[in-house]
Amino acid sequence: MEQTFSVDYGYLRQIVFNVSQNVLDASRDYLFDTRLTKILRNQGMAHLDELVRRLRAQKNIALEHEVAEAMTINETSFFRDLRPFDLLRLELLPKIVEARRHHRSLRFWSGACATGQEAYSLAMLLLEHFPMLVGWNIVIEGTDICSEVVQRAQAGRYHRIEINRGLPARYVVRYFDHIGEDWIVKPEVRKLSNFRRANLCGPSLPFNRTTDRFDVIFLRNVMLYFDQPTRRTLMAGVHHLLAPDGLLFLGSSEQPADPSIWTPVLAGGTCYFRPRQPS
Ligand SMILES: C[S@@+](CC[C@H](N)C(=O)[O-])C[C@H]1O[C@@H](n2cnc3c(N)ncnc32)[C@H](O)[C@@H]1O
Repeated sequence: MEQTFSVDYGYLRQIVFNVSQNVLDASRDYLFDTRLTKILRNQGMAHLDELVRRLRAQKNIALEHEVAEAMTINETSFFRDLRPFDLLRLELLPKIVEARRHHRSLRFWSGACATGQEAYSLAMLLLEHFPMLVGWNIVIEGTDICSEVVQRAQAGRYHRIEINRGLPARYVVRYFDHIGEDWIVKPEVRKLSNFRRANLCGPSLPFNRTTDRFDVIFLRNVMLYFDQPTRRTLMAGVHHLLAPDGLLFLGSSEQPADPSIWTPVLAGGTCYFRPRQPS
């Protein structure tokens, strides 16, 4: 006779929330069944219920993190929603470059970078359109909570299907080397970017607010996974990490949780935010 199990999905949702602050809807509990199969296999378990019992029996931080990371949605693409990139290229970056001409340094952060396409899109945009930056100190930081995608970002290796999503052919030829079905970013692109695992909702953000100020922050398509208090805390931290004349881009359907500290600017068919300084 087939044995039936009842899985405490609420417990799994709570674990995900505790680790990554991602709020999962009960209507999507079925995702646990597919996304946790690799963990079950690695743990030698046949059913999710066993995993829940293991997690309940003894605190296992590594296993909790594995569960939370497996439930992240890592959807991304090169030059996703092209408008922010066009606006940067045509209007915003020329002004920032002019403002930084004495320091000759520019810092970008792709928070929640997933497999790295956003950071590499920025790198290619700089190489393609801002030749005057040769010799400048350019850093594009990419962070994500999910170790697997961070490793993929570090490798900079993409399948033909990922390349075909949003990347102009000219960029493919100029900035990638071809290996079988894959394409790897060339060293000149890779060296501008620096990827590491970091939780946006940990006790502190992964940068130093006095020494690590950013000129441009991309924090796109991640806030939608958080609840309102988490968004407020995150956005306050991001505010501290942005240069006073810096720029913040959110996803096209996202808003800063606390509008009082941001000035929205509508331009180029998109919206970006400038940090408002305390008066
Ligand atoms: C939909 S992807 C967005 C990728 C990219 N920013 C874009 O817009 O194309 C969301 C990413 O947020 C990451 N994420 C979710 N919760 C996070 C957290 N607490 N800290 C850091 N990254 C997180 C996920 O791992 C995932 O890779």
